[in-house]
Amino acid sequence: MDALCFDMYGTLCDTASVTRTLRRELDASATHAANIDATWRRRQLEYAQQRSQMDDYATFREVTADALDYALARHNETPSAETRNRLLDAYDTLDPFPDALDALDALAGRFDLAVLSNGNPAMLDALAANTGIDSRVSRILSADAVSTFKPTPAVYEHAADELDRDLDDCWLVSSNAWDIAGASHAGMNAAWVNRDNDPAERVGGDATLELPSLAALPDAL
Ligand code: LAC
Repeated sequence: MDALCFDMYGTLCDTASVTRTLRRELDASATHAANIDATWRRRQLEYAQQRSQMDDYATFREVTADALDYALARHNETPSAETRNRLLDAYDTLDPFPDALDALDALAGRFDLAVLSNGNPAMLDALAANTGIDSRVSRILSADAVSTFKPTPAVYEHAADELDRDLDDCWLVSSNAWDIAGASHAGMNAAWVNRDNDPAERVGGDATLELPSLAALPDAL
């Protein structure tokens, strides 16, 4: 039985759901909240990748907090410490994508299901419990165990070790094209959930499968 490793942020759960909290806490318009969210998410991913390159690991919670502080400053927001902490906590209650739980249920029994995320364990455990993902996967694996972030090969290798499988008996399922490239480069199969019909990246490490949604995954495998 192959193992399926699901990316969490942006694949199983929708990071854009923090815009609700941004609107409420900052009394922000929909556009302003969406702009802050876009900067927050972009910097979160850039900071994680840059810290990997600099060999200066910090947990994904810290990276997410740093990215939030940058996004607030960039968009001229100066909330209280309490408000800022409530914004950060929104990452613990993201919405699963509408097809995520059904897809996991449909794949159960055919595959060993796991999460493989850059999130640190405390962050992942809270989100998995709040969404019901925790009862649908056998393992929640974090890049934190190897003190670096995807797309560094060590993270995918760590997952295969933990799942007691060869890399080519594992799949990474992700909406993040950089994650697909990383997994494929490391030797995993890679299923790209390309919800926005984006063009393929040109960075090496091609997807094994490309799908429009998680709902399409059970029939495609
Ligand atoms: C994850 C994010 C970074 O690893 O996509 O869950």
